[in-house]
Amino acid sequence: MQYRATLIPGDGIGPEVVDAAVRVVDAAGVRIEWERVEAGADVFLKHGTAMPDEALNSIRKTRVALKGPIGTPIGGGFKSANVLMRQALDLYACVRPIRTLAGLPSRFQNVDFIIVRENTEGLYSGLEHRVAPGVVESLKVVTEVASLRIARYAFELARGQGRATVTAIHKANIMKLSDGLFLECVRRVARDYPEIAMKEMIIDNCAMQLVTKPEQFDVLVMDNLYGDILSDLGAGLVGGLGIVPGSNIGLECAVFEAVHGSAPDLAGKNKANPTAVIRSAAQLVGHIGERSAAERIEKAVAAALADPRNHTGDLGGKATTKDLTDAIVRHLAD
Ligand code: NAI
Repeated sequence: MQYRATLIPGDGIGPEVVDAAVRVVDAAGVRIEWERVEAGADVFLKHGTAMPDEALNSIRKTRVALKGPIGTPIGGGFKSANVLMRQALDLYACVRPIRTLAGLPSRFQNVDFIIVRENTEGLYSGLEHRVAPGVVESLKVVTEVASLRIARYAFELARGQGRATVTAIHKANIMKLSDGLFLECVRRVARDYPEIAMKEMIIDNCAMQLVTKPEQFDVLVMDNLYGDILSDLGAGLVGGLGIVPGSNIGLECAVFEAVHGSAPDLAGKNKANPTAVIRSAAQLVGHIGERSAAERIEKAVAAALADPRNHTGDLGGKATTKDLTDAIVRHLAD
């Protein structure tokens, strides 16, 4: 079977780690014809947008993409290409599995939870304006429709994976209307899933619980900004940003990308950890129906990382991007 998928190399370390992932998918025997399209900071200089229509249309056509990270200027400059893509394609569910991998240095063992982040609204709505000199407003938009569908996604995921609990993360004690609506929607959806326990936790307490007792969590559902922040925290619990994969899922298409950014400090040095993007590619492979190949990639990654000689700098080792990719490819041939 030959598949088609869009490939966005992205900025910074993106092209290196995306190339590594393409090599691994190929070595796993999954035949994908990649439609390579450009998006990112350099593209902005040429086209005036960091996420050109050509890239979005390619994803609409192939319905599935592997994407490298894209840099976004701080404070001013162009609008985030990532936010633009997620909104334009209505990729409403951002799913990030946080799991300890055997053989990796990390503070905790037995961490295994999934962050389900609402991906289209909240404080990422892009509605900011200056009210008066020295006063700005940034609008947090929460809708019933988006809250109900992300809640349902989280409970369906929990049911599909036989998980026991969904915890709604919120700040409804302060944002009584916006987070209050989100929480109420999760409670409503929970009634349709009697076999799954619903818990509620205020975001600040959740941050503390995550760094002291992360084993207690199962599936967590939350708004856009909370999900962004807690994803990086979660990555830190299990070995760092170089490890954790992610997916952006919509009704029409899905885009797979790591949690991490473009890591400009490592770009072009063959030092970046390719694991997160390789595991994102494994999720893509599972998504298009090649579940056994996806599992083989995950096993090969775990086997390679079990040997400290394959650890890149972020994991305390000396291996290069290519060394670790070579090791994963070798394990796929085992
Ligand atoms: P970052 O994730 O790029 O880097 C944070 C730290 O983690 C750095 O020390 C970096 O070297 C390290 N790191 C990240 N990925 C790594 C990997 N694969 N291997 C080894 N070390 C790794 O976050 P930062 O510095 O906040 O953002 C840099 C740029 O990336 C910004 O322009 C930001 O907007 C963008 N970004 C893009 C994302 C996306 O495209 N989905 C997500 C997050 C940030």
